Parts: sequence; structure tokens; C-alpha cells
Amino acid sequence: MSDFDVQLVPMGLAHLAGVLELGHQVFDVSAMPYTSWSLSSVAVHMDAQPDACWVAEADGRVVGFVLGSLSYDERADWGYVEWLAVAPDHQGKGLARTLLEESCAALFAAGATRIITDVEQNNTASAQLMQRSGFTDSVTVTLFVRHAPADGARQSRSRARATDPAKARLHAVARKTERS
Ligand SMILES: CC(C)(COP(=O)(O)OP(=O)(O)OC[C@H]1O[C@@H](n2cnc3c(N)ncnc32)[C@H](O)[C@@H]1OP(=O)(O)O)[C@@H](O)C(=O)NCCC(=O)NCCS
Repeated sequence: MSDFDVQLVPMGLAHLAGVLELGHQVFDVSAMPYTSWSLSSVAVHMDAQPDACWVAEADGRVVGFVLGSLSYDERADWGYVEWLAVAPDHQGKGLARTLLEESCAALFAAGATRIITDVEQNNTASAQLMQRSGFTDSVTVTLFVRHAPADGARQSRSRARATDPAKARLHAVARKTERS
């Protein structure tokens, strides 16, 4: 199959399974443990900013995608490119750069004054891609971790269920939509 057989299309519901599967294949969420990859992660983007979500298809298969959104925490005019992936057998052909361009164009058109993305320090492919696509280094954050003590002293306080961050965002978007 030639590179011409790869098509960029807006993400639709039919792509959900392929996007989810490719993300599971290529994302190392342990590298940034405050993130999680799930169907909710995809759905919340499609719900909030469908025009910033694009897929690369080859022969009906999802071989790449980008998920962007407008607003980052309380900053309504910041675009955020959170998830970007290309299947290993299609990497190195400029697909990620093209997907990123589509998403950024949509975010700027929707009113973003800047677009941010976070890259884990060992992810040189992603860092290079961002630098080649007009992103510049801004703030470097180090995630310091203090683990809970091994004894049972904390147990009575920590009975609350851990929340999936993607689900929390989804619920926040749903609440916002209900209010407006
Ligand atoms: C990062 C990733 C999306 C790049 O996809 P890709 O389609 O291979 O990237 P492109 O072919 O569009 O390359 C664009 C630029 O990125 C850089 N790049 C891509 N892969 C690279 C690698 N392995 N090492 C160094 N630089 C790399 C190059 O500088 C390239 O620019 P150039 O062609 O001018 O040299 C892909 O490696 C991937 O899916 N990785 C796993 C998931 C991930 O880490 N996603 C990002 C965080 S959400």
C-alpha cells in the first residue's frame, strides 16, 4: 500500500474502536501517571471539540489520530492537544505532523490564542515533532511522588474510590452542558 492510500478524515463514531485500540497499542500512560487512556478520553474530546479530532485511515483501518480540545482547565482560550498517535507501521511519513496541523488549525479557528501540549521528557519523537511544528519549550514540570506509608495507618482515611481523570473531565463537561 502506498502513502497515497492514507486519508485524513474528521473523526466519527465509526472510528471509536480503532482509535481506542491504537491508543492502547502505542501510549505508555505509566510515563505520565496522571493521565489515563480510555473510551471516555476519546468521547470527551469528540463531544467537546469534534473539529479538532482527526483520524488517518488506510484501507478502513485507523492508523493515526489526534484529539484536541479548546480550553485548558480554567483557560477558555487555550487549545490543548492531548492525544496524538500513529501506528508503528505508518510512522516516519509525516502523518503526525499533518494530523497535528489539522487539529491546530481547527483550534485557532475556534478562538484559541495559544495551543499547549505536554511531552514526557523521554519521548524524543514527540518532542521533535512539536518543535518542528512551531511549538517552543515553555515550562518544565517535575512530577515528585511521595508514596503512602506501607503500614495500615492511612487506611481509614482512604476509603474514597479513586476517580478516573478522563471520567471526571467527561462528567465536568456533561455538567457544563446541562447548565448552558
Ligand atoms: C510521536 C509520533 C506521534 C510521531 O508520529 P510520526 O507520524 O512518526 O511523525 P512524523 O513522521 O509526522 O514526524 C514529524 C517530525 O517528528 C520527528 N520525529 C518523528 N519520529 C521521530 C523519532 N522516532 N525520533 C526523533 N524524531 C522523530 C521528526 O523530527 C519529524 O520531523 P522531520 O520529518 O522534519 O524530521 C509517533 O511516534 C507515536 O505515535 N508515538 C507513540 C505515541 C506518542 O508518544 N504520542 C505523543 C504523546 S500523546
